Amino acid sequence: MGEDRLYGDPALVAFYDVESTVRTDFDFCRRLARGCGSVLDLGCGTGELAASLSTGREVFGVDPAGAMLDVARRRPGGYGVTWVEGDARSVRLDRRFDLIVLTGHAFQVFLTEADRRTVIETIAAHLAPGGRFVFDTRNPAREEWREWTEERSRRIVEHPLRGRVEAWNEVDCDPATMIVTYRTLYRLADGAVLFADSRIAFPDKDEVEHAIREAGLVAERWLGDWSGAVWSPEAPEIIPLGRRP
Ligand SMILES: C[S@@+](CC[C@H](N)C(=O)[O-])C[C@H]1O[C@@H](n2cnc3c(N)ncnc32)[C@H](O)[C@@H]1O
Repeated sequence: MGEDRLYGDPALVAFYDVESTVRTDFDFCRRLARGCGSVLDLGCGTGELAASLSTGREVFGVDPAGAMLDVARRRPGGYGVTWVEGDARSVRLDRRFDLIVLTGHAFQVFLTEADRRTVIETIAAHLAPGGRFVFDTRNPAREEWREWTEERSRRIVEHPLRGRVEAWNEVDCDPATMIVTYRTLYRLADGAVLFADSRIAFPDKDEVEHAIREAGLVAERWLGDWSGAVWSPEAPEIIPLGRRP
């Protein structure tokens, strides 16, 4: 897994929060965190969720991308979180948490079944008895990547420092591996184009279910989106909400 400049290049990272505004996943996780004394956010990115949870509880945020963590540290509430530059597959923090989350489809950056299994093992290794976990991965049946073509993804982004920026994506899906390669591009006012190439996987529910069981965890509910709807084969998301028994 090479470094993805979308998360590693400060110029591209500066677009992350601008582009991800509607966060029903964060709302859901905040409700779940009520009454929890400790939370671990794996693949925490720019730290919006972790920072918002940091009052009155112990919160750790883990991400390998230093540029994302730089934004996280500086945001309001960021001082209250322990930020760890680390890999969700291998990080071991020597403590356990009441709630562990992976939001924003961070689970999909893990491209092999073996990697996804190790991430779930990391969850198992850090959950307190009775502790809960939740993460999301896009349902492959919905083929959402078809929306990420240049034609369908063209948009204007209002960047706080750079002004109006033209943005679009380009995409390719390998049906053999269900790995989607996409390019994110931003054309700046001076005509320069910033871009990053990213790869994400689209595992199916059976695989995720198997990995959760193998890790000794229990998925108590399967949601189909962050509104809390029950999962169905046509649902946009696969969201296990589970527990360490
Ligand atoms: C789409 S962002 C999601 C960020 C954040 N969770 C959110 O909801 O906004 C994916 C994140 O996964 C992180 N990531 C990539 N490889 C990782 C790894 N091996 N372990 C943990 N996080 C990783 C990226 O750096 C990036 O911050």
